[in-house]
Amino acid sequence: MSGFDDKDGLIWYNGKFVEWRDAKVHLLTHGLHYASSVFEGERAYNGKIFRSEDHSKRLINSANILGMTIPYSVEELEAAKYETLKRNNLTDAYIRPVAWRGSEQLGISAQKTKTHVAIAAWEWPSYYPVEIREKGIKLVTAPWHRPPADCAPTQSKAAGLYMICTMSKHWAEEQGCQDALMLDYRGHVVEATSANFFMVKNGVLVTPPPDCFLNGLTRQTIIELAHKHNVPFEERFIMPDELKDAQEIFLTGTAAEVTAVGQIDDIHFTVGPIITKLRSAYEDLVIS
Ligand SMILES: Cc1ncc(COP(=O)(O)O)c(C=O)c1O
Repeated sequence: MSGFDDKDGLIWYNGKFVEWRDAKVHLLTHGLHYASSVFEGERAYNGKIFRSEDHSKRLINSANILGMTIPYSVEELEAAKYETLKRNNLTDAYIRPVAWRGSEQLGISAQKTKTHVAIAAWEWPSYYPVEIREKGIKLVTAPWHRPPADCAPTQSKAAGLYMICTMSKHWAEEQGCQDALMLDYRGHVVEATSANFFMVKNGVLVTPPPDCFLNGLTRQTIIELAHKHNVPFEERFIMPDELKDAQEIFLTGTAAEVTAVGQIDDIHFTVGPIITKLRSAYEDLVIS
């Protein structure tokens, strides 16, 4: 089976295009040993990257939170992303910018490292299997909890934060689920392993405040769309025992888009009118 290192195409790498198979880093790279790496996940629809500038700003901010400086402006990153799409003949694609500390120094102190940046893009139609998406995916509560904001850089899209996501996702997949529901250090329901969480209860759309997890751009878009479509909305903490009384549950994220949840542990949900309305509003918006 060929992996992600074995594809045709070009990758933007520190300002130049290199052949896909030649886009390499050295073994003694700080980002690999100490997780000094941040990234983005973006989608282009019909040649236009949804909230592209917001993603570039978030990449720069994620790096800054880790004390890394990206040596490119938002405008330069924008031009690089669009050129990456063009050189690879892509109009509907997933885009993965990544920035990491290099091999100039290896140890906890990384003051002499450079921040390297690369951008790859490929076709990626649906994050979850399409047939499952229609009736809602199945989640199981993860054994790992999201850490508090003074124990991890929770507002950075930092690679290190994904360690517990991969472990939780594998744990969910081993039980026949598509993803894991993650609670935070206080036991509140917060998100899945790479998507934000929404619940509909008594006709009100509810999502937790992002005080220890990523305030996703899709999450922000869905809140705007809820206001626009007069869906009553509340941002507040959610306890797991509230889920049994919820009518609809869905996840949002650039990769996941708007994905209905059909089951969490032993509780079942239907794909109801609010999910349907917001999902179709989101699908219209991304191609507008
Ligand atoms: C952990 C986590 N939460 C939430 C999100 C959703 O963020 P966005 O909507 O900006 O893609 C993502 C995806 O980037 C994520 O990895």
